[in-house]
Amino acid sequence: MNPLFIFLLPIALVSAQDLRVGFYNSSCPQAEPIVKAVVQKHFGTDPSIAAGLLRLYFHDCFVRGCDASILIDSTEKARSERFAGTNRSLRGLDIIDEAKSNLEARCPSTVSCADIIALATRDAVVLAGGLGYDVPTGRRDGLRSEVKDVRGIPGPMDTIPQAIQDFARKGLTVKDMVVLLGAHSIGVTHCGGFRTRLLRSPSTGKFFGPTMDTSLRAKLQQACGNSSIQLENEPTVSFDQNTPMAIDNRFYSELLHSRGVLEFDQMLALDNSTKGIVEHLASDNDGFLKKFADAMVKLGNVEVLVGSEGEIRKKCNVFNMPS
Ligand code: HEM
Ligand SMILES: *[C@@H]1O[C@H](CO)[C@@H](O)[C@H](O)[C@H]1NC(C)=O
Ligand SMILES: *[C@@H]1O[C@H](CO)[C@@H](O)[C@H](O)[C@H]1NC(C)=O
Ligand SMILES: *[C@@H]1O[C@H](CO)[C@@H](O)[C@H](O)[C@H]1NC(C)=O
Ligand SMILES: *[C@@H]1O[C@H](CO)[C@@H](O)[C@H](O)[C@H]1NC(C)=O
Repeated sequence: MNPLFIFLLPIALVSAQDLRVGFYNSSCPQAEPIVKAVVQKHFGTDPSIAAGLLRLYFHDCFVRGCDASILIDSTEKARSERFAGTNRSLRGLDIIDEAKSNLEARCPSTVSCADIIALATRDAVVLAGGLGYDVPTGRRDGLRSEVKDVRGIPGPMDTIPQAIQDFARKGLTVKDMVVLLGAHSIGVTHCGGFRTRLLRSPSTGKFFGPTMDTSLRAKLQQACGNSSIQLENEPTVSFDQNTPMAIDNRFYSELLHSRGVLEFDQMLALDNSTKGIVEHLASDNDGFLKKFADAMVKLGNVEVLVGSEGEIRKKCNVFNMPS
């Protein structure tokens, strides 16, 4: 056998092909309805949890794949992924924990926390006005969660080419990236994520960064004031000033009018490699919603554990056998 072939074979065997829609059909037929009920309950009292779950899914999948490593508690000995700066304001972990405990009561040690994140995120997308989609399941939970593994999650000051590389490393295209950024059609950012854009350069007297619509800047200045860059109690503002609770393509039209809040988001409408995609998405909401659903499934395939890899956690915030 060609040595190259031998090398490639194991990789092919653990591909996302092993995820299947309805993986729990016989082992836990109530799995998906149980997750959905918990998400619906929380959304009923706080619709902003949809944004929290979306971001949690992204941050889980971008570090060691979609393996629920983001849910692990830090201990004295081991600082988990959630200790990283990018964990800032992650929300929705309690929803995953609640779904897990309901599932353990019905079908113990069967449904992975990684699948719960993927299913709960889909349910949140639907509640926030996105299109429904089938979630392939069968993920296993990871055995490692280390703060030092957290890299490659783009930050608000990253350049578009840097982010394109981060996504490419996860097998995601430029198009996937721009479509997934449609997640910023809901949710909020702290003022620290864009504060430099409210400041003038002492040398040129111009505002830092790409052009921002004057009325948006006035609004952001009022919301953020001069509060120093403090993690706690820092004000937040919606990414999408018009339809902040709905997943829709309005976010992209805003970018075309210099009304993006994060510098990164605004650059999507300016960079040559992404602006055509932004224009296209801005012109077709149905097309955007369909592409968003497809891209969410693709994000959920990133570096998943399947078969007998990893474990099925009993509690999502701790490994079954803490080391
Ligand atoms: C390249 C890319 C990205 C950058 C630079 C970025 C950056 C950010 C920043 C700075 C925040 C605000 C955090 C805070 O201050 O609390 C945020 C929030 C958020 N991000 Fe992203 N993000 C990116 C990609 C994504 C992707 C791919 C998704 C999901 C598919 C996503 C979903 C969200 C959501 C829903 C929120 C709001 C969270 C909430 O309201 O609690 N982001 N992002
Ligand atoms: C589970 O059931 C659904 C709906 O009946 C079906 O579409 C899917 O293929 C089934 N999946 C498995 C793995 O049996
Ligand atoms: C994020 O990390 C900080 C420590 O850096 C910790 O205090 C906080 O609880 C973490 N947040 C979450 C949601 O785990
Ligand atoms: C905010 O900063 C501006 C300019 O630096 C200053 O004139 C103003 O008094 C400050 N406002 C507050 C509330 O600190
Ligand atoms: C983008 O394209 C325009 C026109 O095609 C060109 O003038 C400009 O230099 C390009 N910008 C970058 C950053 O490549």
